[in-house]
Amino acid sequence: MPEDSGNKLTMVTCSAPVNIAVIKYWGKRDEELILPINSSLSVTLHQDQLKTTTTVACSRSFQEDRIWLNGKEEDITQPRLQSCLREIRRLARKRRSDGEVDVDTAGLSHKVHICSVNNFPTAAGLASSAAGYACLVYTLSRVMGVEGELSVVSRQGSGSACRSMYGGFVQWIMGEQGDGKDSLAQQVEPETHWPELRVLVLVVSAERKPVGSTSGMQTSVETSSLLKHRADSVVPARMKEMIEAVHKRDFTAFAELTMKDSNQFHATCLDTYPPIFYLNDVSRRVINLVHRYNRHYRETKVAYTFDAGPNAVIYTLQQNVEEFVQVVKHFFPPEINGGQFLKGLPVAPTTLSEELKQAIGMEPMVKGISYIISTKAGPGPRVMEDPSEHLLGSDGLPKESA
Ligand code: DP6
Repeated sequence: MPEDSGNKLTMVTCSAPVNIAVIKYWGKRDEELILPINSSLSVTLHQDQLKTTTTVACSRSFQEDRIWLNGKEEDITQPRLQSCLREIRRLARKRRSDGEVDVDTAGLSHKVHICSVNNFPTAAGLASSAAGYACLVYTLSRVMGVEGELSVVSRQGSGSACRSMYGGFVQWIMGEQGDGKDSLAQQVEPETHWPELRVLVLVVSAERKPVGSTSGMQTSVETSSLLKHRADSVVPARMKEMIEAVHKRDFTAFAELTMKDSNQFHATCLDTYPPIFYLNDVSRRVINLVHRYNRHYRETKVAYTFDAGPNAVIYTLQQNVEEFVQVVKHFFPPEINGGQFLKGLPVAPTTLSEELKQAIGMEPMVKGISYIISTKAGPGPRVMEDPSEHLLGSDGLPKESA
């Protein structure tokens, strides 16, 4: 526990991962507590490629709670931020009154300064709220000496954030209670369980910002009968099958459930009134490409999934990565003078057989995909021990680089 004496700062920096659901969360039964209408399951992505870093400082000299996100000061009174702050402070107070010895009481009476950055461009449209709220809650808990189950807190920042509190394969159990105490995330398997599993994020060039998940799912709950059917009758069985596929490292079952669940989620978006469209032309081409690739091999080697935007996330096994990346490059030729097309884990170039190209048989679409991030499953949030990683300076204000 960092020391706090006089006007000194107590400062902790942590990082947290992004997660991509293979059984989707879509729809709330309680807007305020963020309680879902169905359980969901995701893979936590490796922080070497995608992460949020957050520094929390507290000091007697701070006048008010403040927050800076990606270099810009934001409104701390925003209800979801307030829920997370209030919950962590409540848990810290509880620990103190329960007689826990080493609880840092400073964090309770003092105001906090929070500074958070992503290591990926916000404009890429990758789910950043999950990593953001997971990191906020994790860092606050470390500053205030709170331990134990914290996914119920990060859930109140953004539903999907509860799954970013763990590494590997994570389920969010929807729960039944009205107070949300049983609506929490649990690790199904750690990231080491399936080392051959690889992830490719295909960042699609989008013209405009799609409808946000929060308001999108609200309209779906109000208007889509397909969503009700999905939550009541489809997801419970799918969760069981998916957990089994993960336990057994059964890629075929994992991949097929992933694609079907993404498709059903987007079908509920079309069933929403007025309809919501997250997939665009490029997304649909990626879907076709994957099915044609799998059909050629008569084997499900690659799976796609899409969230509330046009970016495709591909799950495949190590042995297929080089060829599939080459296929993407061939059918979505990168911009000639653009930046780096492939980021993240290195992927060696390879040559495609004429037979494969013909079997796929699509017209190449120039610039449809801006770049690929190659990654894999990774661990949950962690404390960064090196003080040079702090995003706030000794004055409690963001450093130049943050
Ligand atoms: C399509 O967690 O962003 O990515 O709880 O309103 O903050 P709020 O929504 P959010 O929704 C994510 C929806 C999704 C599917 C998923 O991640 O399970």
